[in-house]
Amino acid sequence: MNDATHAVNKVGPVPIYNDRVVRNFTLAAVFWGVVGMLVGVVIAAQLTWPSLNFGIPWLSYGRLRPLHTNAVIFAFGGCALFASSYYVVQRTCQARLWGGWLGDFTFWGWQLVIVAAAISLPLGMTQGKEYAELEWPIDLLIAVVWVAYAIAFFGTIGVRKIRHIYVANWFFGGFILAVALLHIVNSAAIPVSFTKSYSAYAGVQDAMVQWWYGHNAVGFFLTAGFLGMMYYFIPKQAERPVYSYRLSIVHFWALIFTYMWAGPHHLHYTALPDWAQSIGMVFSLVLLAPSWGGMINGIMTLSGAWHKLRDDPILKFLIVALSFYGMATFEGPMMSIKTVNALSHYTDWTVGHVHAGALGWVGLISMGTLYYLTPRMFGKTKMFSVPAIELHFWVATVGIVLYIAAMWIAGVMQGLMWRAVNPDGTLVYTFVESVKATFPFYVVRLCGGLLYLAGMLIMAWNVVMTARSPRSVAAPQPVAVPA
Ligand code: HEM
Ligand code: HEM
Repeated sequence: MNDATHAVNKVGPVPIYNDRVVRNFTLAAVFWGVVGMLVGVVIAAQLTWPSLNFGIPWLSYGRLRPLHTNAVIFAFGGCALFASSYYVVQRTCQARLWGGWLGDFTFWGWQLVIVAAAISLPLGMTQGKEYAELEWPIDLLIAVVWVAYAIAFFGTIGVRKIRHIYVANWFFGGFILAVALLHIVNSAAIPVSFTKSYSAYAGVQDAMVQWWYGHNAVGFFLTAGFLGMMYYFIPKQAERPVYSYRLSIVHFWALIFTYMWAGPHHLHYTALPDWAQSIGMVFSLVLLAPSWGGMINGIMTLSGAWHKLRDDPILKFLIVALSFYGMATFEGPMMSIKTVNALSHYTDWTVGHVHAGALGWVGLISMGTLYYLTPRMFGKTKMFSVPAIELHFWVATVGIVLYIAAMWIAGVMQGLMWRAVNPDGTLVYTFVESVKATFPFYVVRLCGGLLYLAGMLIMAWNVVMTARSPRSVAAPQPVAVPA
């Protein structure tokens, strides 16, 4: 048999696409999303009522916070990226995922990384570098899995049946290469035992390497890969071609070139040379252009089909994600201006900015994509409950608005309280007064987080029910193969 979905090899007919690995990563993304957001809610509650750590070391805020960031970024976001990139590269290249068992290896290897993180972080094992906390044995495992991912992805591109490499693959490919480079350079460390190591860099160089990594983790892990999703799933769901393909290519090169230089905006007013801080600021301001160009390209893909937004909740997830992307990428360049950063740095404004991007952009675009993939991965025409997708969308959106509005107000308030001085030069407010003033905003943030988590639980239920409901699309039938 040689049709669109099957090809014959020596042992019999095999499906052209390796969808098992896509299915596994889809389910894992939903599972880790629930776990990571639950830990987010726990730490939001701890910031409101610190005694909620019950005096247990592994429940302490300092250990659960990196567990939250690692779980949502690398477990939830990472699995969504693996699932979508494997799905997209196979479809757009019209070729099976290259490397046979490599796909499964990346799935199980990545799950092992996540489990190792979930054990070691609460035990207090950390390198102390934000978003790169994991100790060196886990770092080595990440490097091996990531190289396998790169081989499977680029191998598929190498055996493609379609000459043109679709733009989504450029974004996925850029993300895979950049993350490999960032991870390997930033994780260079000297081990002193199996569970402890020290960075290979010292002092301000260490800080610079770390925030070159940290900012590009945002640029490539939390942005470029998800833009790959945008360029495939929005046109597919809207049944419209990308608004401007030419703009998408300019978008790609401008974005990857600019992101690499913006890292120093995390180190304003530090021991980093002033000129380096200014370079970071200027490149951050320039970054507004490719970011908004890409956002507009995604949103305008809907032109002529705006009515679809009314009754397609998956499209709502995808398009509203882009609105939050636009918001975060406007706010980021503003915060990188030194005088603005003097107010925002160390305050909850930064946390508000992070979650506008994380909940609004990364979260919603992933959820839209996972809703697209789930029925297809289980041979169904649609999700078990479409009204539940709509409910998820509204619960999550209200949750995001509560979360980020509370953090913006709290952040600006904290910044203004900390810098207020009396005519004699003494501080108007003690630090603890600013903490007390923040309390109501932490309660509102917690409510927003609970709503967002509730949405994720609705999604998990819907995914399980879709998987368990009877098949609605004829399953590919194996056929006898001529000897
Ligand atoms: C239910 C949803 C969530 C809740 C309640 C939540 C809550 C929190 C809290 C309380 C913090 C610590 C803030 C601080 O240190 O002051 C935090 C940090 C963070 N969260 Fe979330 N979060 C959620 C979802 C997410 C998602 C989905 C992502 C990413 C995709 C994310 C990424 C981050 C990052 C990157 C930080 C570190 C921010 C920084 O260092 O400025 N969170 N989160
Ligand atoms: C044009 C794009 C962007 C620029 C120029 C930018 C700029 C900034 C600036 C200036 C900060 C504050 C640094 C500080 O005071 O310490 C920051 C923090 C952060 N941003 Fe953005 N941002 C952008 C987009 C995004 C997006 C889309 C996301 C998420 C998906 C994001 C995630 C973060 C995170 C996680 C942090 C906190 C880092 C930390 O201190 O732990 N940013 N960003």
